[in-house]
Amino acid sequence: MPASAKRVLITGAAGQIGYALCPMVAAGRMLGPDQPVILHLLDIAPAAAALEGVKMELLDAAFPLLQGIVTSTDPAEACSGVDVAVMVGGFPRKAGMERKDVMGKNVSIYAAQARALEANASKDVKVLVVANPANTNALMLAEHAPSIPPENITAMTRLDHNRALAQVAERAGVPVTKVKNVIIWGNHSSTQYPDVSHGTVDGKPIREALKGSEGWLAEEFVPTVQQRGAAIIKARGLSSAMSAASSACDHVRNWLLGTAPGTWVSMGVLSDGSYGQPKGLVYSFPCTCKAGEWSIVQGLEIDAVSAEKMRATAEELAEERELALECIKEAAA
Ligand SMILES: NC(=O)c1ccc[n+]([C@@H]2O[C@H](COP(=O)([O-])OP(=O)(O)OC[C@H]3O[C@@H](n4cnc5c(N)ncnc54)[C@H](O)[C@@H]3O)[C@@H](O)[C@H]2O)c1
Ligand SMILES: *[C@@H]1O[C@H](CO)[C@@H](O)[C@H](O)[C@H]1NC(C)=O
Ligand SMILES: *[C@@H]1O[C@H](CO)[C@@H](O)[C@H](O)[C@H]1NC(C)=O
Ligand SMILES: *[C@@H]1O[C@H](CO)[C@@H](O)[C@H](O)[C@H]1NC(C)=O
Ligand SMILES: *[C@@H]1O[C@H](CO)[C@@H](O)[C@H](O)[C@H]1NC(C)=O
Repeated sequence: MPASAKRVLITGAAGQIGYALCPMVAAGRMLGPDQPVILHLLDIAPAAAALEGVKMELLDAAFPLLQGIVTSTDPAEACSGVDVAVMVGGFPRKAGMERKDVMGKNVSIYAAQARALEANASKDVKVLVVANPANTNALMLAEHAPSIPPENITAMTRLDHNRALAQVAERAGVPVTKVKNVIIWGNHSSTQYPDVSHGTVDGKPIREALKGSEGWLAEEFVPTVQQRGAAIIKARGLSSAMSAASSACDHVRNWLLGTAPGTWVSMGVLSDGSYGQPKGLVYSFPCTCKAGEWSIVQGLEIDAVSAEKMRATAEELAEERELALECIKEAAA
């Protein structure tokens, strides 16, 4: 029996990540090879023509799993009946704009989209926020969509996680599938803490497998992962899009269909205070997933160096939350 189609919303669908993400979702990389999909593509009016172009190409590619395409510049229409929402759209920071002004724009975009999701999405919608500042946007979405349980709204740090896996695999000279259980702690930014303390290469602890590369692990690995986004911009003249799209598929697929036994992934989720990180922040933790529910991996030993890095990234997020809440207050006033 073929499954009935699931509706997947992609906001900012006419943008770079959208262009890479649409075909991946239509090809089954997000919801699996047997799950038909209907794409709901949202962008703003100035991008409406480009959005129609994306729709034409999706039709032309004749994806067997793609059962329909809805394009819209109206959040309520785009959110209507969606089972999964991938929030990629956002207001770009322009030269001369204060961080707070950009935050104000983003907060109002996320408030409006939260209301549309609440009113019009499927009752058990799962939301992934990709647009930056991803952690704080997810928090603002949750603030403005109180009927969606906050555990059903997550932020993407999977790209950072995948970057860390790939760096270790390259160094060890093994396929990336042999590397498991790295962790990205905290914000999706250069203060994130990519942690190899609990990871393995072919079942062996990473530090053991990379004997002789202690210097690389200590000096190069962390900044390479933290600053990979900037390196891509420098090389390509554009920010990472294909790898972001692929990681968004990985995030949602593992969330809905589960993580492999003995394996965890990094997800930005609402902190419950695990590992001493402040409750109420959307913070990246190691998570396992089963049937649409994530849980934070418990009981990992944290050394003093790691603890300090985890605290620093939390501090950054707490400050950003304050800025966002200030913007909400000002908007309401
Ligand atoms: N979490 C991550 O790992 C990660 C990785 C890469 C990029 N990003 C972020 O993803 C976002 C998108 O990146 P991109 O390269 O595709 O950018 P882009 O500028 O190419 O595309 C953004 C799209 O969003 C649209 N948009 C703007 N306001 C909107 C609104 N209110 N509603 C719907 N659509 C709207 C724009 O018209 C544009 O088409 C950025 O915020 C970027 O920083 C996150
Ligand atoms: C969205 O939901 C609201 C509130 O239930 C409803 O009035 C509106 O018609 C819906 N919009 C769409 C496009 O379905
Ligand atoms: C607002 O969103 C844009 C695009 O998503 C992002 O580039 C910018 O950094 C965000 N603003 C702030 C204050 O972080
Ligand atoms: C949240 O996700 C859980 C797990 O899939 C699901 O059972 C529940 O219906 C969702 N709740 C809402 C209201 O979205
Ligand atoms: C957290 O990370 C996001 C995404 O990179 C970034 O836009 C934001 O500025 C960071 N937060 C702070 C307070 O630096």
